[in-house]
Amino acid sequence: MSHTTSNKIHLFKEKQEIHCAEDNTILKATLAAHINHAHACGGQGKCSTCRVSIMEGIENCYPKNELELLIATKLNFPEEIRLACQTKLKGDVLIRRMVSDELDIDLISEQFSEDSEIALGRQQKLAIVFTDIVNYTSFAEKFPPYDIVHVLNRYYQMMNSIIKDNKGIISDVAGDGILAVFGIDEDSDNAVLDAIQAIEGMNQKLEDFNEYLKENFNTHFGIRAGVHYGNVIVGPFDTGAMKKLAIIGDNVNYASRIESANKEFGTKLLLSKEAYQKVEEAYPTCNVFETTLKGKTGLYTLYEIC
Ligand code: FES
Repeated sequence: MSHTTSNKIHLFKEKQEIHCAEDNTILKATLAAHINHAHACGGQGKCSTCRVSIMEGIENCYPKNELELLIATKLNFPEEIRLACQTKLKGDVLIRRMVSDELDIDLISEQFSEDSEIALGRQQKLAIVFTDIVNYTSFAEKFPPYDIVHVLNRYYQMMNSIIKDNKGIISDVAGDGILAVFGIDEDSDNAVLDAIQAIEGMNQKLEDFNEYLKENFNTHFGIRAGVHYGNVIVGPFDTGAMKKLAIIGDNVNYASRIESANKEFGTKLLLSKEAYQKVEEAYPTCNVFETTLKGKTGLYTLYEIC
């Protein structure tokens, strides 16, 4: 007589425990237990709406089959995200269904149409750059909104192309500030070098822009920048009206504080220790500063490069 082992699936959201025969998939078990588990392609391994996060017991999942590997690679799934329609078990697991409603399904459909590999949030080590404009405040106080918007748009457009040329991406702009990251699509070992080259390029471009500013507004701009290298969470965010690649995490705040520290030291470009270590062979230091940073505890060492 054949004997089929049964494993337990603990469902995190439903606070429920169900059984899954060893030759069944997780999806078959949840559907048999009348759980409303999304499976838009009918369990064909084509839609990924059945995805679950294996919160405990990943070692109790059989390795991904070819179908699942295909989707997992395309969507850059971390190890713990599995397709319930393809995953069979050899032990107990704790899972969380990741697709709750129609809105989730819409978001996932869009991920399939994205060219970007960063279709899902992921943690990644990147060079994080904050810049702001020297003299912006006095310019903005003197001129009407039309001129401010026009000048900022020209500035962003120019800087965006330089950042892109150096393999970076602008994640956000606010007023005169730019948040850009480097190393997203590449091995991030050269990310800080790319970031510094971008900042150098931005400063060069600013010389032309300053001629335009002098002629039209009798002013000139400078750029202050802070660079940090560390882990951040990267993910596409979609507000409906606007899509953007958001960068989240304490390291983003750290980069912003480094940029602000330029005002205190009268510098134009400061690097965190982690960022400087990535480029120390290429760039000697001019100055090293020990300082506290707003909102952070302890002393930080910042590097100005020549
Ligand atoms: S149900 Fe479509 S991939 Fe699993």
